[in-house]
Amino acid sequence: MRKPGQVFLVGAGPGDPELLTLKAARILGEAQAVVYDRLVSEEVLALTPPLARLIPVGKAPKSHPVPQERINEILVELALDGLTVVRLKGGDPMIFGRGSEEAAALSAAGVPFEIVPGITAAQGAAAATGVPLTHRGLASGIRYITGHCREDRPLDLDWAGLADPQTTLVVYMGAGAIAEIAARLLGEGLPASHPVMAVASATTPQELRLVSSLGRIAEDAAAASLRGPVLFVIGEVVSLYRSCPDTVLALLATSPSRDAVYA
Ligand SMILES: C[S@@+](CC[C@H](N)C(=O)[O-])C[C@H]1O[C@@H](n2cnc3c(N)ncnc32)[C@H](O)[C@@H]1O
Repeated sequence: MRKPGQVFLVGAGPGDPELLTLKAARILGEAQAVVYDRLVSEEVLALTPPLARLIPVGKAPKSHPVPQERINEILVELALDGLTVVRLKGGDPMIFGRGSEEAAALSAAGVPFEIVPGITAAQGAAAATGVPLTHRGLASGIRYITGHCREDRPLDLDWAGLADPQTTLVVYMGAGAIAEIAARLLGEGLPASHPVMAVASATTPQELRLVSSLGRIAEDAAAASLRGPVLFVIGEVVSLYRSCPDTVLALLATSPSRDAVYA
């Protein structure tokens, strides 16, 4: 029996191809097959060798052209053919990326694999906008939460625990549920003035930012019709977008090309 190849579960970062790690770039350059998601940029895919097989399994919101179980099978099949396979995902494979499910499937099939981290969208958005995720006196912790549940079930989150003014909330996949999320957090006592920022297509030339508040974010986000993947940052740290005394942050915050709407 042929010796199985190896699968690398690789994070491609949030969008800017330069945010790919050196390790990810090296492994991509050695790939014989690349199974990739919708959010992976053309520039990153261009790092693959010309003869590598490129297999898109992209998932758009609410549509799963290739079911997760089939993706798992594809990875196992390619590896059992002896190939060096890269499973390339947006951001980090282990943060809302189902990387752990793929790792479990590979492990069950006896396929060797390695996980290569990527910069997650929250970190990309924070760096691009100058809004930190923690800041002394404003946020002592962060919670990454999903705004989308399996099979479109209702959001079942720890709303009381999330409504902590000292915690920055970062909502992934929340574009369709931001009205509900805001309402639930208001219901748990966060004030309507609590700052919120939406960032669409962070770290790409299409990046758009919307600075708003918990009381207005649903209306403002709908009016701004943000395109591309959207991340919401909810917390006092967003107030630094406009008021941080640091020159670099202040410059970023007033960059006219990227600001969408101000509340
Ligand atoms: C399925 S999750 C994948 C997250 C990815 N594994 C990561 O670590 O960033 C997709 C969600 O990530 C967020 N996202 C990914 N890339 C983004 C970007 N460039 N700008 C804003 N949000 C992004 C959006 O909330 C999007 O709905």
